[in-house]
Formats: sequence, structure tokens, C-alpha cells
Amino acid sequence: MGKLDGKVAIVTGAASGMGKAIAELYAKEGAKVVVVDLNLEGAETVVKEIKDNGGESKAVKVNVADVEDINNMVDTAVQEYGTLDILVNNAGIMDGMEPVGNIDDKKWDLIFDINTKGVMRAMRKVLPIFLEKGKGVIVNTISTGGLNGSHAGVTYTASKHAVVGITKNTGFMYANQGIRCNGIAPGAVETNIGSTMKNLDEFGSNRQQLTGNLVPRIGKPEEIANVALFLASDEASFVNGTVVTADGGWTSAF
Ligand SMILES: NC(=O)c1ccc[n+]([C@@H]2O[C@H](COP(=O)([O-])OP(=O)(O)OC[C@H]3O[C@@H](n4cnc5c(N)ncnc54)[C@H](O)[C@@H]3O)[C@@H](O)[C@H]2O)c1
Repeated sequence: MGKLDGKVAIVTGAASGMGKAIAELYAKEGAKVVVVDLNLEGAETVVKEIKDNGGESKAVKVNVADVEDINNMVDTAVQEYGTLDILVNNAGIMDGMEPVGNIDDKKWDLIFDINTKGVMRAMRKVLPIFLEKGKGVIVNTISTGGLNGSHAGVTYTASKHAVVGITKNTGFMYANQGIRCNGIAPGAVETNIGSTMKNLDEFGSNRQQLTGNLVPRIGKPEEIANVALFLASDEASFVNGTVVTADGGWTSAF
């Protein structure tokens, strides 16, 4: 018996990295998984892998920065599978390590629209479904950068700190309605997120490197997926409104 048997889950940013690992593990544990990404081809490849392994899955092309796409994502999941039990807000991009003196408004807005506003909008859209059912689980892939000051530039850091706030606020607000909302703070993990780091800021990168040098090892996406499985499962029934760090011991240093 799987830990998520009969559940319906949405995983954003699931064509690659941690989202892909989470989608695959959830499907292996019995969930029907809506694989959401801007990269439809990548999402379809993940769906094919899930189906080849006997799971149920559907790909949906979504830009999490677009409110219509977000609403369509949730409507599609419900149309396809009749309900929704789990939302994993995982899609995200990095900044270019810019400190506050070097960030421009356009880049700030783009990163916040994806990393922060997209998370709020997806949560807002699933809330009525979860409230009607009297249960539901939200898992947000945040970052150790959401808990500490120098794991990225100012924009990524602030965008992820905001998601810590959204997670804690939601965990408490709906605690008596059967809804749990938690986050994961991964340290450095081997994914494709480096491809979103364009025009690296030299000053900011050098400052960030001071803490980066202490990373004990780079984690695997599957190690984060295991945490996401725990948080989505009934085993985490008393875990709500918190952020689980999974960084191999990195941030215990400071
Ligand atoms: N890799 C790390 O070291 C690390 C550490 C801490 C936190 N994180 C966070 O983990 C999450 C997953 O990242 P990853 O490292 O697996 O990266 P990744 O680049 O391998 O995967 C991210 C996925 O999100 C998708 N995506 C990007 N923008 C999108 C948008 N606007 N709409 C829909 N999909 C979009 C990408 O196409 C990609 O498939 C992110 O929120 C990231 O901030 C990563």
C-alpha cells in the first residue's frame, strides 16, 4: 500500500530537478499527479515515465507567474481526477546574486511573480476545495535562502523569506480546518536551477561564496522528495506551519 493511495496531487516545476523527483515519488506512492511546468515537453516526459511505471499522471503547461494559468492548473486537476488533496509549490528561479545596490525592478518583479506571488495564488485557488473537503496539504519548496541572509542575491533571498511567512501564516490560519501547510528548506541540490542564474553579479557572488564554501555536500533531488513525501503523508499529521531544513548540515554551521 502506498503512502498517498487515492490522493490527487499537483506538483509545479515538475519537469526537472526536485519537482520531477517529487512527482515521481508521489506517483510511486499511489497519488495521481498533475505534472505542471512551463516546459511542457519536459513535463510530458515525466508523465510518460510515471505511466510506464504503472502510475496515473497528466502534464499541464503553466507559467506560475500567470494567474489564469494557475487557475486553469487547479481546474484541470479537478476536471481530470475529480478532486485535489495535495499542492506542491515547487517551481522557482534563482537571481544573479545581486545585492540590493545592483538589482533592477524588472528582475525583482519577475522573481517575485514566480517564487512568491505564484505560490500565494496557487494556495488561494486550492483553498476553497480544501475547505469544502475539510482537509488538504500544501508543501512549499522554499530554500535555506528563505531562512538565512546570504545563499543568493537580495531578490531570491527576499522572495523565499516571504514564502516562509506565507507558509507559517497559512499553517496557523487554517489549522482548525484540516489543512496543513509546510515548507522545505533545501540546501544546495543537484538540479538544473543553475541555468536560471544569468549575468552573475561579481560582488554578490563573492560575498555569497563565503557561506557557499561551507556546503558539506550537494544533495540529490530524491533526498528532498523524501521530505516532501513525509510532509504530504498522514505521518506528518501533527506537522503544520513549519519549515523542514534538508541541507546535509550546512546551516548548522551558522
Ligand atoms: N537546486 C537547489 O540548490 C535549490 C536549493 C534550495 C531551493 N531550491 C528551490 O527548489 C525549487 C525547484 O528548483 P530545482 O532546483 O529543482 O530547479 P530546476 O530548474 O531543476 O527545476 C525547476 C523547474 O521549474 C520550472 N519553472 C521555472 N519557472 C517556471 C514558471 N514561471 N512556471 C512554471 N514552471 C517554471 C522549470 O521549467 C523547471 O522545470 C525552486 O523553487 C528552487 O528555488 C533549489
